[in-house]
Amino acid sequence: MNIREYLEQKREAVDRFLEEVIPDAKTPPTTLHESIRYSLFAGGKRVRPILAIAAAEAIGPLVPATLPIASSLELIHTYSLIHDDLPAMDNDDYRRGKLTNHKVYGEAMAILAGDALLTLAFELCSRRDLLDGLAPARQVQLIYELAVGSGNLGMVGGQVLDIQAENRDIDLVTLQNIHKHKTGMLIRAAVRMGAIVADATDEQLGRLTGYAEDIGLAFQIADDVLNVTGTREELGKNANTDAQRGKKTYPTFYGVDGAKALADQVRDRAIAHLDGFGPSAAPLREIARYITARRN
Ligand code: IPE
Ligand code: IPE
Ligand code: MG
Ligand code: MG
Repeated sequence: MNIREYLEQKREAVDRFLEEVIPDAKTPPTTLHESIRYSLFAGGKRVRPILAIAAAEAIGPLVPATLPIASSLELIHTYSLIHDDLPAMDNDDYRRGKLTNHKVYGEAMAILAGDALLTLAFELCSRRDLLDGLAPARQVQLIYELAVGSGNLGMVGGQVLDIQAENRDIDLVTLQNIHKHKTGMLIRAAVRMGAIVADATDEQLGRLTGYAEDIGLAFQIADDVLNVTGTREELGKNANTDAQRGKKTYPTFYGVDGAKALADQVRDRAIAHLDGFGPSAAPLREIARYITARRN
């Protein structure tokens, strides 16, 4: 399989779906919808929805509910980025190759666009017209996964730890815990939600969860490396910001080459969790390789 084509095809499917379900910029309140669309359609890689789809494909044929469930993760992710860039948080000016949301629409609208995206994610996971054929118990399970992955003990919890670690001499265990939550928990939810929508057995879900936890870590180590080695043109956001904020990251502990080697090691461990899945898990294996090799 060609992973570039696969990623492109799935990204387009997610974008088409989001384009359909997100109100257009003329829908009142117009500024809110403009601001939501500005960040959502700014060109994200759609890694989390694609992971959900690939996890579903590893289990069996795709069902119609897969796309809405997968896309809900992108709404959470985009909200988290809009809020993460705010002056009270990372105070960043560029994201996805464009000015950050608050730079264009102001802080109040950026906060509200994020709030609305967070809420819309749960709406998408509970719209009966979109989730045709999905058993109600499955629906509740999916909503639960999304909540746990994104909330106080998931992504938001990790963002708290991340902010509290600024300009502090944290140890490696603390850094691992930050990454596990800040980035790992939503990626974990993505893979698990894809598996659940496809009716995975507990055993399959367990193995895919192991895969997800490892690629979540590999993804954030790669992000730490790119923060040091990437340019704003490549990344679509300012580079070198971790050092400027006094943040200890994987390259601080291991050096750039050491961090890259570690990401590759974690990637291989992730792929090993897929032993026994056969060719239907080929996209998941390739995504793991893409995550550590990417340049943005
Ligand atoms: C960036 O996520 C923030 C992190 C959690 C590391 P992505 O690298 O997935 O960003 P987009 O969605 O492609 O912009
Ligand atoms: C963003 O983390 C993670 C979120 C959950 C929003 P960072 O602050 O490290 O990521 P970038 O560098 O802004 O993309
Ligand atoms: Mg941050
Ligand atoms: Mg940031």
